[in-house]
Amino acid sequence: MRAVVADRYGPPDVLHVRDVERPIPKKGEVRVNVHASSVTRSDCGFRSAKPFISRFFTGLRRPRRTVVGTEFAGVVETVGADVTGFSVGDEVFGFRGGSNAEFVCVPGSGAIAHKPVGMNFGEAAATCDGASIARACLKKVELREGKRILIYGATGAIGTAAVQLAKATGAHVTAVGNTQNLDLVRSLGADELIDYLTEDFTKNGQTYDVVFDAVGKHSFHRCRASVKEGGAFIETDLGFLWHVPFLALATRWIGSRKVNLPVPVYSKEDVLHVKELIEAGRYRAVIDRTYPLEDVVEATLYVETGEKTGNVVLTVSPTA
Ligand SMILES: NC(=O)c1ccc[n+]([C@@H]2O[C@H](COP(=O)([O-])OP(=O)(O)OC[C@H]3O[C@@H](n4cnc5c(N)ncnc54)[C@H](OP(=O)(O)O)[C@@H]3O)[C@@H](O)[C@H]2O)c1
Repeated sequence: MRAVVADRYGPPDVLHVRDVERPIPKKGEVRVNVHASSVTRSDCGFRSAKPFISRFFTGLRRPRRTVVGTEFAGVVETVGADVTGFSVGDEVFGFRGGSNAEFVCVPGSGAIAHKPVGMNFGEAAATCDGASIARACLKKVELREGKRILIYGATGAIGTAAVQLAKATGAHVTAVGNTQNLDLVRSLGADELIDYLTEDFTKNGQTYDVVFDAVGKHSFHRCRASVKEGGAFIETDLGFLWHVPFLALATRWIGSRKVNLPVPVYSKEDVLHVKELIEAGRYRAVIDRTYPLEDVVEATLYVETGEKTGNVVLTVSPTA
C-alpha cells in the first residue's frame, strides 16, 4: 500500500511516500481503507520530535511507528476477530497513528465511529484532532450557560473546534481572530468577536471565567487581569522551558486563578461526542486546503507556517 513514511525525526523532507506492507488487523481491530487523512500540528510535533519529551512516546532515537499521520476517514475493509459494532463497508472516521496511508488498523474499541451522516471523507478526516484537544481543554473548566469564555486564536484547528464546543455548552463565547477570518468565526457561533490586529483584549477591561489561548501566543502573566477570580487560563503549548506545566502545578495551590494544560486522550467518547454535534448541525470541520497524499511535504510546510485556517486534508483515495 502507499503510505507516508518517516524513518527518522527531522524537517518535513524526512517524509516520503513509499510502498509498505499492508497492516494486518489483530484481534479486536478493523482495517480501514483510508479515503482521506490530514496533516496536523500534532503530526508535525511527532515528526520533528519537538518537544523532546514526545520521544518518550514515539521512540527515543527514531520513530517506532514509521508511517505517519493520525486522523482518518474511510471504509471498513476487514473486520478482525472479536470486533462488535463494525461491518465490512461501514464508513468510519477517527484518530489512529499511521493513518497517512491507504490502510490503517484501528481497535474497534478505540477512537473510531461511524462517519457522520452527510459529511464527506475529507471533512470527517479533519475533525478528531482539534476536537479532542479542545474537548480536553474545556473538560476541566465545566462551561455552561452564564459562563464567559474568550478563545484566542479562534481560527486554528483547536480554536475553530473550541468555539463550537464551547458554544454547544451554552456559554457566552468571545472569539479572537484576524480581520479576514471574523466572518468565519461568527459562522461557527461566536457571540462576540475581537480583531487582534486592531484590539488587545488584555487591555479592554473585560473579564472572563475562562481565557483559552488556542495557539500558544499568549501567557498567563499577560492575560491574568482578563481572568475572573476563580477562573482559569488554558494554554495548548508547554511554553518556554516548560513554564506552563510548572504554572499548572503551582496554581493548583497558589492564587485564585488556575492554569490548565490539556492532555488529550483521543477516546471513542471524543469521536462519538463530536459526531453527535455534527449530526445535530452544531459542529463542522473547517478546511483550509486539500492536498493529494503525494504532496505531503508541501502540505506539512504549509501547516508549519502556523497560519492555516482550521485544517489541512490529505486525500488518499480519489473518492475522497
Ligand atoms: N497540547 C497538545 O496536545 C497540542 C497538540 C497539538 C497542537 N498543540 C499546540 O496548539 C497550538 C494550536 O494548534 P492548531 O493546530 O490549532 O494551530 P493552527 O491551526 O496551526 O493555528 C493557526 C491559526 O492560528 C492563528 N494565529 C497565528 N498567530 C496568531 C496570533 N499571534 N494571534 C492570533 N491568532 C494567531 C492563525 O491565524 P492568522 O491568520 O491570524 O495568523 C491561524 O488561523 C499550537 O501551538 C500547537 O503547537 C498542542
